[in-house]
Amino acid sequence: PFEWYQEMREGSPVRYDPARGSWDVFRHADVKRVISDDETFSVDPRNASDFVEAGGEGEGLILDTMLFQDPPRHDELRAIVEEAFSPRVVAELEPRLRELMGDLLDDALATNDGTMDLVDELAYPFPVIVIAEVLGVPSEDRAQFREWSESLVAAADGEAGAEVAERQQASQREMAMYFLELIEDRRENPRDDLLSTIATAELSDGSTLPQQEALGMCMLLLIAGNITTTNLITNAVRCFGNHDLFAELAGEENAIGTAVEEVLRYRAPVQAMTRVARSDVTLGGETIEEGDRLVAWLGSANRDSRQFATADEFVVDRAPTGHLGFGHGTHYCLGAPLARLEARVALSELLSRVDGLALADTDLSPTRSSFIYGVESLPIRYDAA
Ligand code: HEM
Repeated sequence: PFEWYQEMREGSPVRYDPARGSWDVFRHADVKRVISDDETFSVDPRNASDFVEAGGEGEGLILDTMLFQDPPRHDELRAIVEEAFSPRVVAELEPRLRELMGDLLDDALATNDGTMDLVDELAYPFPVIVIAEVLGVPSEDRAQFREWSESLVAAADGEAGAEVAERQQASQREMAMYFLELIEDRRENPRDDLLSTIATAELSDGSTLPQQEALGMCMLLLIAGNITTTNLITNAVRCFGNHDLFAELAGEENAIGTAVEEVLRYRAPVQAMTRVARSDVTLGGETIEEGDRLVAWLGSANRDSRQFATADEFVVDRAPTGHLGFGHGTHYCLGAPLARLEARVALSELLSRVDGLALADTDLSPTRSSFIYGVESLPIRYDAA
């Protein structure tokens, strides 16, 4: 999409797309304003003048979460889990994350011989296992949990045939029932896990977070953190492979952390976020009306030469300031500290344990999702573990 972004940034930085019925925003300054000025732009799709309920089960659940709520409701919901995802609390997870990644690597190296699919073996399962553990899902249910979360993400893409969609709905229902049971259990017997925090959360009016919203929060944490982190890890390996950086970065924790930021800029897993104008507003010389939908292209903002010198080059030690890979402002990614840690741990374990790493294929199929940037699978080669 990067050439298209470039063309749009220079030629029509804010433009109406009649096919989608929404405005596209391409420049860094405009994108940043649209995603963070929540007085003018709402995250709640229900505010769009052309909003129609898709009617899918679970739609309401997700629309009632922090991701699609404006302040003050947003702030109240986010506050429930803010502490658990703070850099301080997340940092304590590092040893356990290394152990989990080590186990995945052991399995992958034992069952493959010289080549493997990075996505299937490592980048996909890792974030699922981590969030399951953070939430407090019993480890014996993890395989089932992985299946469900896969179907949840596939459903979120919304491109499935009728039969597939039906199966997805069924497994979503199963997952919802499973979570409701766990939430019920944690209400009665709270433990030291995030499920308990969510299940027993008290709102400012003294009431307990309704069960449906507790469920929505669990679903959101799964959806928001899984394919995004999978693609961050995968996109990083692609960047490192294309720039011959595997050997140079092996064992260099800090350099890997810095490189991950550049990947978030250069190949952002989330390329766009949507908003709805709450009042008439002028942007880039165009008049946007109340109720109009906007698409803020984070991936384009991240390549804007007004913000970044040599924006179309991957510069591993650039340490980009102001990239919008995790958004900006009120809805800035809650999971950013966790995603950064997961990526650094996954990459540093992979690079230090495997010699002679290289990308094994150049013919890659993009992730089947409109706003997610990554590949479905990434074959890699290696000499020895
Ligand atoms: C919000 C990206 C990982 C949970 C966001 C937003 C972006 C983003 C761009 C802003 C949405 C908006 O402005 O409308 C990413 C990327 C990730 C990642 C690129 C991985 C590389 C995670 C993880 C979690 C998570 C691991 C949790 C386990 C959330 C939540 C929100 C959010 C709950 C909504 C925050 C709010 O509305 O206040 N993420 N995310 N994300 N992310 Fe992430």
